[in-house]
Order: sequence, then structure tokens, then C-alpha cells
Amino acid sequence: MNGQSDRPLVIFGVGELAQLACYYFTHDSPRRVAAFTVDRTHFRENQCMGLPVLAFDEVDTRYAPEEYDMFVALGYTRLNRARAEKCVEAKSRGYRLATYVSSRSVTWPDLIVGENCFIMEGNVIQPFVRIGNNVIIWCGSLVSHHVEIDDHCFIAAHAVISGHVKIGAHSFIGVNATLRDKITLAERTLLGAGALVTASTDENTAYLTAPSQEAGVPSHRLQSLL
Ligand SMILES: CC(C)(COP(=O)(O)OP(=O)(O)OC[C@H]1O[C@@H](n2cnc3c(N)ncnc32)[C@H](O)[C@@H]1OP(=O)(O)O)[C@@H](O)C(=O)NCCC(=O)NCCS
Repeated sequence: MNGQSDRPLVIFGVGELAQLACYYFTHDSPRRVAAFTVDRTHFRENQCMGLPVLAFDEVDTRYAPEEYDMFVALGYTRLNRARAEKCVEAKSRGYRLATYVSSRSVTWPDLIVGENCFIMEGNVIQPFVRIGNNVIIWCGSLVSHHVEIDDHCFIAAHAVISGHVKIGAHSFIGVNATLRDKITLAERTLLGAGALVTASTDENTAYLTAPSQEAGVPSHRLQSLL
């Protein structure tokens, strides 16, 4: 894993992920968050978390890309395409894209992680793992040895990704999903919460698990058994 840069940062977005990113970068990285930026059409407040918010079309007048990096903090809308498109725009404006890897995750020195990635706490990432650009890994997942995650993916909390799995670009892995070893998820695979995937997938497919049904037994009756 490359050493983390200490260049100051502008965060694209002001939503939950942007605010979390600000908190994590501030408390667990050498970077200082200087400001937020949003598209002018989304401009509502000129402050967020006590920091200035600027319209994206003018952000470089105060926070020039020669001095500031950017992190695009958008979620998984349109299978991560919204975030991917904004990364392209930020780069075309000259910004380098920042990556964060929590010091509270377990990683090894050979980890390869691209730009605009955000890896939160409690993940276990084993040796021989390659993570592309613009990948968000929420908390508490296992990314086993020899896993390859392509660009623009979102992995929600507590996924189990077994050894030698390949995850195609723009995929979404829902909370508590389990992937058996040596399979490949094709591009834009969507795994719903709790999915169990044991074979490789085709592009644009979704794997959904049936939700638990209401059991017809009152909860207080079950509690009395505990
Ligand atoms: C699978 C999932 C993505 C569906 O979410 P959704 O978009 O709100 O789904 P909706 O309830 O609007 O359903 C969309 C369609 O899929 C179908 N569908 C949803 N869940 C289904 C299931 N488990 N099995 C079969 N069909 C299902 C619906 O019937 C609906 O079909 P229709 O359009 O013909 O009526 C969602 O349940 C899920 O698992 N999300 C991941 C949660 C997660 O990891 N969050 C972490 C964020 S950090």
C-alpha cells in the first residue's frame, strides 16, 4: 500500500458519505479537509461541518488542483456511475483523487489500491489483493487472498469475499453477502443483502435472497422461552 499523502483535500458532496469522509480523513489520515464542493444545481448552504461549500464550477479559484486533492463522496447511485462520472470530471479539472484506508482495518504491505477509494474500519484484507479505482468498502468485510476488485464497485458491510474471487466493474455487494472462492462477478453484478453466490455471474445480473417471513408467533412468546 502506497504511503498516504498529506495534501489538503476538497470533498465533492455534502451528504452522509461526504460527512463521514470528512470525519475519517480528519481523524485518521494526515490530510486536512479544507472545503466541500457540490454541483451548482445542488448548492443549498455555504457551509458544511463548519467548512466552506463552493460550487464545483468555481472550486478551483480558491482551492487550486496544484495544491488540493479531491475525494468524490457519492454513493452507489446508478451502480456507482454517478461517482465514476464525477471522478472523470474532477480529474479533467486537474485534481488528483484521494484514497483513504482506515488504520483500523487489517491490511498487508503489498495491498494495491487505486484512486478515490474509501476503505472503512474493521475490514480484513489479506495479501495478494488488488483493488481498482473508485471502490468503496464499508466496514467489517473479509477480502480474502488473491481477490481482484475492478473499478467503481461498492461493497457494503460484512461481506465475505473468498479467495481468488474477481469482482467486475460497477458491481454492488450488499450487506452480509457471501461469495464462494474462485468465482468471477461480471460487470454490474448486484448482490442484495444476504445473497449467497456460488458460481460466476453474467453482466447486469442481480442475486436477491428471500427475506425472512413473519413467523406467526408473537415475539413475547419467543422472549419467554429465552
Ligand atoms: C435487493 C435490493 C437492492 C432491492 O432494493 P429496492 O431497489 O429498494 O427494491 P424494491 O423493493 O424497490 O424492488 C425492486 C424490484 O425488485 C423486486 N425485488 C426486491 N427484492 C427482491 C427479492 N428479495 N426477491 C425477488 N425480487 C425482489 C421487487 O419485487 C421489485 O420488482 P417490481 O419492480 O417488478 O415490483 C435491497 O433489498 C437490498 O438488498 N439492498 C442492499 C442493502 C445494503 O446492502 N445496504 C447497504 C448500504 S451501505
